[in-house]
Amino acid sequence: MLSFRRALVAAAFILTILFLTTRSSSPAASSLAVEFPKSQADSDTKQTSQTTASSSNAVHAGGNRHRPSAQGQQTMQDMSKMTLYDKLAYQFPYDVETKFPAYIWQTWKWTPAQGEFQFRDQEASWTEQHPGFTHEVITDQVAVHLLRLLYASVPEVLEAYEALPLPVLKADFFRYLILLARGGIYSDIDTYAIRSALDWIPDTVPRSTVGLVIGIEADPDRPDWEDWYSRRIQFCQWTIQAKPGHPVLRNVVTHITGETLKRKRAGSLRNLVHKNVIEFTGPALWTDLIFEYFNDERYFDMSQSAGAIDYRNFTGMENSRRVGDVVVLPITSFSPGVQQMGAKDDDDPMAFVKHEFEVSTLTRSIYQGPAEPPLLPYTIPEHFAATVSKFGDRPAVICRTPTARPDALPSLPADGIPAALETTLSYEKLNLTSNALAHSLRSLGVKKGDRVAVSLGNNAEFATLTYAIFKLGAVLVPLNPGFNAKQVTAALNHLGVELLIIGAVTDLAYKPCRGRSNLPLLQSIVPDLESGRVEAPKVPTLKTVVVVDNSASHPLSKFPPIASLRSLTPFTALIPDLTTLRASSSTFAARSITPDAPLSPTETINIQFTSGTTSTPKAAMLSHASILNNGALIGHRMGLDPTDLIVCPPPLFHCFGSVLGYMATATTGAAILFPSPAFDPLATLRMAAAHRATGLYGVATMFGIGAGSSVPEAMMRKLYATFGLEDLVICYGMTETSPVSCMTAPGDPFEMRTRSVGRVMPHTKVKIVDPLDPSRVVPVGERGELAAAGYLVMKGYWGDEERTAEVRKVEKEDGEKEEVWMYSGDEARMNEDGYVEITGRIKDLIIRGGENIHPLEIENCLFQHPLVAEVSVVGVPDERYGESVGAFVIVHEGVIAEGQIDGDGKGEVLTRESVREWVRTHLSGHLAPKHIWFVKEYPKTASGKIQKFKLRDTAQRLLEAGR
Ligand SMILES: *[C@@H]1O[C@H](CO)[C@@H](O)[C@H](O)[C@H]1NC(C)=O
Ligand SMILES: *[C@@H]1O[C@H](CO)[C@@H](O)[C@H](O)[C@H]1NC(C)=O
Repeated sequence: MLSFRRALVAAAFILTILFLTTRSSSPAASSLAVEFPKSQADSDTKQTSQTTASSSNAVHAGGNRHRPSAQGQQTMQDMSKMTLYDKLAYQFPYDVETKFPAYIWQTWKWTPAQGEFQFRDQEASWTEQHPGFTHEVITDQVAVHLLRLLYASVPEVLEAYEALPLPVLKADFFRYLILLARGGIYSDIDTYAIRSALDWIPDTVPRSTVGLVIGIEADPDRPDWEDWYSRRIQFCQWTIQAKPGHPVLRNVVTHITGETLKRKRAGSLRNLVHKNVIEFTGPALWTDLIFEYFNDERYFDMSQSAGAIDYRNFTGMENSRRVGDVVVLPITSFSPGVQQMGAKDDDDPMAFVKHEFEVSTLTRSIYQGPAEPPLLPYTIPEHFAATVSKFGDRPAVICRTPTARPDALPSLPADGIPAALETTLSYEKLNLTSNALAHSLRSLGVKKGDRVAVSLGNNAEFATLTYAIFKLGAVLVPLNPGFNAKQVTAALNHLGVELLIIGAVTDLAYKPCRGRSNLPLLQSIVPDLESGRVEAPKVPTLKTVVVVDNSASHPLSKFPPIASLRSLTPFTALIPDLTTLRASSSTFAARSITPDAPLSPTETINIQFTSGTTSTPKAAMLSHASILNNGALIGHRMGLDPTDLIVCPPPLFHCFGSVLGYMATATTGAAILFPSPAFDPLATLRMAAAHRATGLYGVATMFGIGAGSSVPEAMMRKLYATFGLEDLVICYGMTETSPVSCMTAPGDPFEMRTRSVGRVMPHTKVKIVDPLDPSRVVPVGERGELAAAGYLVMKGYWGDEERTAEVRKVEKEDGEKEEVWMYSGDEARMNEDGYVEITGRIKDLIIRGGENIHPLEIENCLFQHPLVAEVSVVGVPDERYGESVGAFVIVHEGVIAEGQIDGDGKGEVLTRESVREWVRTHLSGHLAPKHIWFVKEYPKTASGKIQKFKLRDTAQRLLEAGR
């Protein structure tokens, strides 16, 4: 953060000079007469012309048709008969020739003087850039008082403001109200001022002809823009500069007031939810009314105009344009650094304001992530090509082969221990090798849409294959290399795979150089490995098996020389050596690859098997757009830049390694470091130290905590304290959402960085619903099931419509667009700032007589009982209540459980009734377990988690047996 601020200040200084020499080269626009009154008292009309703002030869032409202006002089103060629009014109007259008032208005829950205020850097940037300006950060309470003063004579505006049901609607409305009444600059609290507003209007444009300065938020130049944005050109409303009384503001306030009061009278205000905000008070409304103004005959003489003004007049523009008394800034000005739609970087001379992310206060647990940065509208190969041309000589992937400590391989002489070899692929090299490999795969018959299975550890071959497969438009299907023959067979058959690429040896976590030979697995799939033909009765579709020979790093593996197994294709036949390939030496590699049919960002490019703990794995279909953007947005929230070196022990066959890791670095131009094919803590630390890595990925178990999948708060605190890891971030997600939907950010408050999984990602919505009635979004603070919507939701499970429909639901609310929600099965709650906390699994929830009971609460209570060693609580079927509470209890050593005779029969006795009594006294009567079973141990997973679904089965059996 600090260095960013410093960089901005320096950049702003240099660019002031550059800016003056920047001149528009866009063609002079046809001129257009513009008419607008100078002020309420002075109804003279004024003629200006529309032209490119930075062009020095502004043309004054066109007829000056005088029209009776809507804000003509009123004789008396009796406003009761006036329309709201006229009242506002009377109350807040507009005079284009006045100066822009030197105000900066911002709103937030807290003032900078309060400890909770978390935007110090942003707020300071406005003060620093604008000496002499009055800068106000206004809280909600102050806003109400201020508006009461300013709008006392227009009570319907106040009524509407007070009736708006969501804080974000009020925040939107406030900016228009304050600018209409007082003028100046409004800017969201999460924006940085890169340059002074004095520089926003080009010198060639007289200040006395401009009354409104606006920027562009989105200019999605693509055919399917409607899937991504609500308007073809969208003007932003996070930063606006205006003179008081500007007609656009007058119109916006009239519109919002009218719509709000109409809904209030109809009793339908409550139905306004977050997703209506864009249309109701947000950028969509703002954009529509600005275009309405540009084409409004009251202000513009249309007779001289070459045509209506629409998005075409602004799309792709690189310099400011003036339309009448409005200056429209190019996308770079208020959206620099978003890396698309033509926006240039933060240090561009036209970059004025940087917008970070949206904030709001919630009442219901539904939250739409920010619209920044915009989604990348590309296929993966398209975006990769752009990364390669920008960062070609930077390292993309650095991999190490495994190395063992000598005592791990006692049967070998010291010089027989494999040494770790390091391979570095620059982006250019990765482009080249993946190209060569793509040509080879094509010669094996791989086409667009074919599923290609890859069962490898984290190595250079996997990293290269990923892009080779993507470039062909084929579908990458990573398999867990730990799968046994049965699992591999089932996966290949399910997807009709024709090509499998597998390692000779599967590397095992914590056992470097002592992997599992895949010979038996391959023999089971292709019974005759020597015949030279692939005949695989168990996988009839399989045509080719490619083997990556990694036996050198596994001296004990006993995998025969691959040349002797003629049914297998050695990887070296596809590409001789990844490291020595040169563009000049291989015309093959240099030939660029074109897929056999055009690719589209919404097509499936990756199928990931979900790690189902209960039933058979499901194959989630993910698109270019979903994984590319998820990676890019993760990189953005982490603050990755091209100089970062990220050590990634999590496996590439999982979304963690492939998307959070590889996609995040590859979309940024940063490097990913794979310390070993399978997890090895020592190799990880060595590589991080050797390369002075800037980032490290891991799951809780890798940091030595056996906590399953969630990240315990205590561990986070320890990592902060022990490693001094300051910018630790937590991601939450599931394979079916590509995978990340929520994430903490380095700038979040400490408590939220340790306790929550952060807030929803950009372009993503998260809601928490009542598990019994999913149409009800629960109030903030209440627990329910988490669901996510947006670009990130999978297209479905391959060949499994039934199970897809159980979790992927198309929902439509109040005449809104249909949306696809992915239900997570996770229990969560959201706070008023949108931070999400994961509290358990929905399936573990007990629903007794319509009331939700959280097993954890009862377990925590019973843990305190002096005679109880361990306890696990599950729901069991109940005739009267649907479900009731059942507890499996393990007593301390020496304690006798009721009905059991242990040892010598001496010792304290724990009765079922005393267990119930404990819960009744410490919690409440309805939580007391109806059924209590004393057991000696629980069924557990390999990682030590209790398998509650097995306990539930046991409970059912015991009940049926009458026990
Ligand atoms: C705006 O765009 C339209 C359509 O491209 C064009 O006909 C018109 O001349 C443009 N107007 C101005 C003032 O540039
Ligand atoms: C990527 O490789 C292909 C084939 O060698 C080449 O045509 C293309 O120009 C390369 N891209 C960049 C940005 O170097």
